[in-house]
Amino acid sequence: MDVQKPFSSPSPRQFAAPAIMMVRPFLLKPQWMNGLSERLLVSHYVNNYGGAIRRLNAIRARLAALDWAAAPGFEINGLKREELIASGSVILHEIYFESLGGHGDNPPTGLEEPSVELAQALERDFGSVMAWRVEFTAMAKALAGGSGWTILAWCERLGRLVNHWAADHAHGLPGATPILAIDMYEHSYHLDFGAKAAAYVDQVMANLNWQRIGARYRLATAEGAGEDKLFVPYGAPEHEEARISAEELKAALEDDVDRRPVLLDLCLPKDLPRRTDMLAGATMHAPAALPRWIEELPRDRPIAVYCVCGFQVSGTAVTELRRRGYNARALIGGITAWHAIGGATVPMDISTYEKAT
Ligand SMILES: [Fe+2]
Repeated sequence: MDVQKPFSSPSPRQFAAPAIMMVRPFLLKPQWMNGLSERLLVSHYVNNYGGAIRRLNAIRARLAALDWAAAPGFEINGLKREELIASGSVILHEIYFESLGGHGDNPPTGLEEPSVELAQALERDFGSVMAWRVEFTAMAKALAGGSGWTILAWCERLGRLVNHWAADHAHGLPGATPILAIDMYEHSYHLDFGAKAAAYVDQVMANLNWQRIGARYRLATAEGAGEDKLFVPYGAPEHEEARISAEELKAALEDDVDRRPVLLDLCLPKDLPRRTDMLAGATMHAPAALPRWIEELPRDRPIAVYCVCGFQVSGTAVTELRRRGYNARALIGGITAWHAIGGATVPMDISTYEKAT
């Protein structure tokens, strides 16, 4: 696999730069959302978002090998259309998931409103925040029984925020930057809501993270300096060199045996029922038993630590391991991101897991 920086970690906002499209982690805590189940969110992230990433990388590989002068038009047309659709699906799913979730360990309240700056922009362009909200949710609900996206976007040429519909992941207003997107494909709600798309739209609106949406608006209007930290998972190590992406870990595990990272699977006791599998060769431990398992870790090998989604369980442990001189990195997005890139796993083995004492 062609990954530019093996065993290092780009910032989340630079993920598009490498030769392959890299997965972004959940910023939301899927087990703590209001009225959107973990099963729904994880299935959507792993299968639909992850599927789009995997498809886009496969299409790019085909395009890289294409003989453009000799290829028939139908082959060029087909690949370039599919590339556009997969690219749009990846980017819109990232905007959708990053717009959801609470702050840190807190679930979304459902009561928050846009920041003053974004509220003023919505008022300027739609009359009031409520008028924008009525239009936006009506547009999303109108897609019930169909599919597509409802998008709030900033358009420099029009000089305003606009609500627009998008079909096939490939429908955009030229020159506009999406700020917020609601996925209206049935896969985004059917597990929890059946065909009740309107109830799903209301629940999405109650789970919005206006801090990140506001940051996205400032980034779109080129006033977003210093916003990057909002797009790093809560509790993940602060420094980039202490994090590793799923793609980089996959490449590192294909390295020579003596240079491969040692894999450490950390799981809180209460999260064990959420787990079914693990990375091959990983050893599973309880985070609280660190004084016992740390003695088994080598000092001359890189160590990759992962948890469910890559929040503070692996983040706290990696910070502590690095403080003690170990070459440890936390897997960005945890085993959930690993699933999204199609990484192989084996059934969970808890034989090394410390019993509560
Ligand atoms: Fe989706």
